[in-house]
Amino acid sequence: MNIALKGSIFLFVLMAVFFIVSCSSSQRYKMLTFFFDGVPDPKSSTDLLSSDSLLKDTLLLANNSTLLQASIQKMHAPYQDKQCNACHDQTMMGKLNQVQPGLCYECHEDFSKKFEKVHGPVGGGFCTSCHSPHMSMNEHLLSRTGQTVCLHCHESSSLLDTDSHKDIKETLCTECHDPHGGTTQFFLKQ
Ligand code: HEC
Ligand code: HEC
Ligand code: HEC
Ligand code: HEC
Ligand code: HEC
Repeated sequence: MNIALKGSIFLFVLMAVFFIVSCSSSQRYKMLTFFFDGVPDPKSSTDLLSSDSLLKDTLLLANNSTLLQASIQKMHAPYQDKQCNACHDQTMMGKLNQVQPGLCYECHEDFSKKFEKVHGPVGGGFCTSCHSPHMSMNEHLLSRTGQTVCLHCHESSSLLDTDSHKDIKETLCTECHDPHGGTTQFFLKQ
């Protein structure tokens, strides 16, 4: 999805939220059940819906709505603050001020100074092979989740056959490895 499309979905959902919270609780229940499954009936769960506060309603709606959940983004602080020119040259229509990782180290700790051994894509300035520079639905602005953050590049059946890996199942690779670097060759966390 492009930014404009995401933006308009987000706007639509926001408008829907404001419309819904401005109704009475029974009207709201009808509205919500029209859009989403599993909305608790206000009569059967008066404790949850006893308060008409905007925050509570919005949280409740967020918990019940995959549509809303899908449109809630974690924004990168400078993107959210519309500091586009912290990274983009405004006079050159979007050209980046400098290449990664220098671009990112303007504000973040330099991993090549922090770690003896730096992970290949980190040293090479491919921060955006794992992170989105603008926003993401995942923690830490990651563009993928779970093991695919790593298996996107390290896809190899032999890797998961080694003694250290054969029992990891769904365990996150980052339980054992630091994604950026470390003191030993394999960036193992202590
Ligand atoms: C933290 C640095 C940073 C900030 C702040 C930032 N951008 Fe970007 N932007 C990037 C990088 C890096 C790319 C290149 C994408 C990549 O490498 O995958 C990019 C790419 C883009 C693109 C090309 C299309 C795309 O999504 O790849 C557009 C358009 C864009 N940015 C607009 C903006 C706008 C508008 C803002 C401010 C609201 C902004 N950016 C703020 C770093 C940033
Ligand atoms: C203009 C300053 C600035 C630049 C440039 C910048 N960042 Fe950030 N970044 C921030 C701030 C501020 C935060 C929010 C505070 C924090 O979590 O450290 C943040 C947060 C993050 C986070 C999320 C931290 C978390 O755990 O949620 C990631 C990942 C990140 N930045 C990656 C990047 C990458 C990759 C680049 C280069 C493409 C970059 N940043 C460039 C200022 C910047
Ligand atoms: C191989 C994937 C990968 C690459 C490449 C990568 N990161 Fe990350 N980064 C992660 C993961 C995964 C996390 C989540 C923290 C964790 O699980 O240890 C993270 C967390 C972060 C955070 C927040 C917490 C922290 O550890 O400081 C920042 C800031 C960040 N990365 C910046 C960067 C910058 C800047 C670059 C490029 C120089 C970069 N990352 C390259 C995977 C990556
Ligand atoms: C963008 C591609 C890319 C992604 C994503 C990626 N890696 Fe890497 N990784 C590399 C490259 C390139 C090297 C250096 C070449 C090599 O030694 O295989 C490397 C090296 C390593 C090494 C050291 C291997 C050695 O033999 O010295 C480990 C450990 C590692 N990566 C773990 C991870 C983990 C864990 C993740 C997920 C957090 C991850 N990688 C995600 C590209 C990637
Ligand atoms: C339970 C801890 C643990 C988990 C989880 C883990 N690793 Fe490892 N990994 C290790 C250890 C320990 C080594 C050191 C080399 C060895 O003894 O095989 C290693 C080595 C590596 C190496 C370099 C050696 C090689 O065989 O190429 C890569 C690359 C690697 N891991 C990637 C990953 C990826 C990708 C994931 C997630 C799918 C992952 N690891 C999950 C513990 C772990």
